Parts: sequence; C-alpha cells; structure tokens
Amino acid sequence: MEFKKRCIVELSVNSSLEEAKLAYDERASCWEKISDNTGYKGHILCVEAFDRAMQSSDIYSNPRKDMKILDVGAGTGGIGEMLKAREYNNVDALDISQEMLNLAAPKNLYKKMICAPLKDAHMEEVETAEYDVVLCAGTIVYGQVKPGAIEQCARFVKPGGLFIFSIRVNSYDPVGLGFSEKCEELEKSGKLSLVLKERRELHATPNEERFRYCYVITYKILQ
Ligand SMILES: C[S@@+](CC[C@H](N)C(=O)[O-])C[C@H]1O[C@@H](n2cnc3c(N)ncnc32)[C@H](O)[C@@H]1O
Repeated sequence: MEFKKRCIVELSVNSSLEEAKLAYDERASCWEKISDNTGYKGHILCVEAFDRAMQSSDIYSNPRKDMKILDVGAGTGGIGEMLKAREYNNVDALDISQEMLNLAAPKNLYKKMICAPLKDAHMEEVETAEYDVVLCAGTIVYGQVKPGAIEQCARFVKPGGLFIFSIRVNSYDPVGLGFSEKCEELEKSGKLSLVLKERRELHATPNEERFRYCYVITYKILQ
C-alpha cells in the first residue's frame, strides 16, 4: 500500500508543474523498480533512434563523441548510461526533480545537471541553439509538460541538430491535448522537419493498456 501511495501517483491533464515535481520527488526512490516492473523502454527507444541518426550522414552530418547533448527529463540517468557506454562525453541533464537527479549524480554520467522544469515558455537555464542534440524520454506527456515544451526543446538545438523524443500515444493522438497540433505547427513554420515518427511499445508490461505505446519522433532543426 505504501509503495502504491508513493510510487503510482497519477498525474492528470490538469496537473501543475509543482505537482509533477512532487510526484517525481516522491517516487524517485522507487522509479527504477517501477521502470523494471512495467518493462519501461523510453530511454532505449530514444537512444536507438539517436544511433540510427548518427549512422546516416543525410540525417546528421558531423557526429562526434564530444557533441553537446542535453537529456531533458533525465531522471536517474537511463539515457546518460547508454550514451556513456557509447563514449559520448559532453552530455548535460535537465530535470524538474532534484531527487531523481540525486540518484543519477553518483553515476557520473553528466557534465552539468540542471534542476529546472521544462516549460512552455522561455527558460533562462538553456541558451538558444546551445546543443547539437536534445534527447527526451518519458517526459513530454500530459500532466508533466504543456505542448509548448516541444517548441522549447527545439529552441535548445542548433540548426542542423536533432531533437529526439518519446511521447505516449495517449498524449499525442487525442486532438485537443495540443501535442500533435504543436508538432504540426512547428513543422509548417519551417522551424523543424520530421525525420522519422514510429509507433513503438513503451512498456512491455504496463499497469494499464493505455500506457503501452508511444511514438518516437526524430526532428531535424532547420532554423
Ligand atoms: C518517466 S521518467 C523518465 C526518466 C528518463 N528520461 C528515462 O527514460 O529513464 C520522467 C522524468 O521527467 C521528469 N519530469 C517530469 N516533468 C518534468 C518537467 N516539466 N520538466 C523537467 N523534467 C520533468 C521527471 O522528474 C522524471 O525524471
């Protein structure tokens, strides 16, 4: 019961950033257990998409191990661990929850760790075009961020760079939540272009079927 109370706090469409922060501060100590129990694969899917992009000079022209990468919603470092294993050595983390970042810190995965919310408005913590690549797994969903967060992540990336993220199907598909509309708006405006959008299984053994699938979206930033 205590595990359920602390670890399976549900965020809703109307949750605030403060509620998202509290939820993850509370569940930090059991996040890796929840992730194992539900067969969570967000970090794996995003790094897989990143690997494929790095292997194609049409998608990314200058892959280097010291390229500047930001892991948004880094949590306990799932993406950071995979990038470190691939010898990427210039990776920063951003997360709303200090408790999640505290669990990532001893793993020495990130150059800089920024504790701040990803917002739908300008964030002083990250410069425009500061990064070559932004990766974001399991963070862009209703209850955690507003659709404008997608535009912020795109802003963090240099022209020619990549923004790769997972988004649960039950956040992207419903018209009116605003996530797919924001993507369309940014594509139409010429800010970015779609490289690949794939529907993938996010949780192998989800608590509820509506959490099973996500899209993994790779965008190239144009301006
Ligand atoms: C489902 S976990 C995913 C963690 C990690 N990316 C992974 O794939 O293993 C979501 C993470 O996003 C963070 N988060 C939630 N809302 C956020 C926001 N508005 N801004 C920044 N981080 C947020 C949480 O603290 C948590 O660490």
